[in-house]
Amino acid sequence: MLRRTHTCGELRETNIGEEVTLNGWVNAYRDHGTGLVFADLRDRYGLTQLVFDKENADDALLEVADKLRNEDVVAAVGKVRTRVGGENPKLATGKVEVVVTRLELLSKAETPPFMPGAEKGDLPGENIRMQHRFIDLRRPRMQQILQTRHRVTKITRDFFDKHGFLEIETPILCKSTPEGARDFLVPSRLQPGEFYALPQSPQLFKQLLMVAGADRYLQIPRCFRDEDPRADRQAEFTQIDLEMSFVDRDAVLEIMESFVRELWSQMTGYEAPAMQRITYQEAMDRYGIDRPDTRYGLELVDISDLAAKTDFKVFADALAKRKGVVKVIRVPGGAEKLTRKLTDGYTEFVKQFGAGGCAVTKVTEGGFETGIARFIEPIAAELRERVGAEPGDTLLFGADGYSVCTKALGELRQKVAEDMGMVPEGLWNFLWVVDFPMFEYDEASGRFYAMHHPFTAPREDQIEAFLNADPGDRDAIEGIVSDGYDIVLNGSEIGGGSIRIHRRDVQQKVFNLLGMSDEEAEAKFSFLLRALRHGAPPHGGVAFGLDRLVMHLVGTDNIRDVIPFPKTHTGADLMAGAPSGVDDAQLKELHIASTWKPPAE
Ligand code: AMO
Repeated sequence: MLRRTHTCGELRETNIGEEVTLNGWVNAYRDHGTGLVFADLRDRYGLTQLVFDKENADDALLEVADKLRNEDVVAAVGKVRTRVGGENPKLATGKVEVVVTRLELLSKAETPPFMPGAEKGDLPGENIRMQHRFIDLRRPRMQQILQTRHRVTKITRDFFDKHGFLEIETPILCKSTPEGARDFLVPSRLQPGEFYALPQSPQLFKQLLMVAGADRYLQIPRCFRDEDPRADRQAEFTQIDLEMSFVDRDAVLEIMESFVRELWSQMTGYEAPAMQRITYQEAMDRYGIDRPDTRYGLELVDISDLAAKTDFKVFADALAKRKGVVKVIRVPGGAEKLTRKLTDGYTEFVKQFGAGGCAVTKVTEGGFETGIARFIEPIAAELRERVGAEPGDTLLFGADGYSVCTKALGELRQKVAEDMGMVPEGLWNFLWVVDFPMFEYDEASGRFYAMHHPFTAPREDQIEAFLNADPGDRDAIEGIVSDGYDIVLNGSEIGGGSIRIHRRDVQQKVFNLLGMSDEEAEAKFSFLLRALRHGAPPHGGVAFGLDRLVMHLVGTDNIRDVIPFPKTHTGADLMAGAPSGVDDAQLKELHIASTWKPPAE
């Protein structure tokens, strides 16, 4: 093989006159019938224009050149000269071209299902791209994403190495410890009837590493959660996982914040200011969501006290509920931009989140008009002042129990921002959300769940209250604040973590509150409980979603774009054909039989 002397992105005017050898894929082949034939040669580094001079080239060369087609792999030898047809400013190599004197066809390509050089609009649907991911990844955009991922992991490793973190691997075949998402299970051949689980995260292992004295841990692990994929969620994804000993919350937040700022500075040149911190409660009150997008206003304003003074039955019914509230979003200039059709749609929209509907009115010079205008007339002055209403605004009302109302309005807030075109481009708004509750109560199952995970500690000033709390006292348990935190960027959760429980009595009580008896907790987590008995340092950490960081850095809202070989929304790898059936012999060895039957026609 004729080995390359340069890459396809390397040649410049300084190379003019040199004889070079390039290797790559034929990106485009153009025979204008003018005696000159052009081909762009592509590799990871760029494109270089090759020229075949039909008049002067020898027959052997022309014979190979004539048969060249897109995506053939070739080695080309030739001389660099100034680009005769004029510079192509879009290419780094755009001032030069290579007049080919020797050509070796290294691999003939079939007609590709799509061209890696195609513009976005000419690309086929995602399924075709997924089936031929090896071609899809040739696209310059995808090459750029692969590089971005690489640079992010490199900067990460360098940053944490500098701060004394050790990169340590943890197992992929783990014990199933139900809590959180559904596990992927792997049957054991050597221990019939038993299963490993793939890790949902290395959470317990990193904590055990702290007990083991590792002090500062880093890993970039693959995590597996058998959940339905979404735009920013895959069943198999990657974290940047960190844990530190002898730290409190602020020590963790400080170093993690400086990491994120360094990453953004190096990747984008953006110097992020010190990050704001808001409490979970404030996030829910003002934005109706625990990962608020603070690039725009549209905050939720509580008007429960004013609503109580009206005769509007919807308000009265809501306020009669447990923790009933009435809240308003003021949409500046909404009267003109939010059409009746849009605002009618909002009622349907909020129903998805359990709300009964969404009341609307417009603010005029003298009062309110349309929608629920006449019901709020008695509180007009106070309401206008509370929400800062101006003529031309639209007011959107939610009335329900606190959690339904805030959730529905929080989702609506994001939709309205899009409908109003209020989401600014090119802003990076980082935010810490702190002071999460330890537990949330699920009405359907009638039990508590850990808001983050069962290993998150109560905030230091809450520990006594927690240990003394009566498990039957729902308000008391829901009121316990944890030492957990999330980092949010433009409304997306890019990381989360907590200070962990390092006291056995506290851990035991959390397990009990989650409905596990001491015996059950021992059966599932004996290794953790044992470790807590053998000298556990105070410790805490964070995991960032690597894929999500990369999504923000390359500007996509589709997680599949940033994972080299992703799965579809049904969890399929369309290229390799996974998941797939296996031989009966394999199943037998694993002591497994499938109970699945195809549905009757
Ligand atoms: P958590 O479950 O919050 O915490 O995950 C940490 C971060 O990982 C990302 N993430 C995901 N990204 C893509 N697809 C998914 N299915 C997915 N699930 C989560 C998010 C999230 O913020 N062990 C704890 C961390 C800790 O306490 O230190 C954990 O896994 O960006």
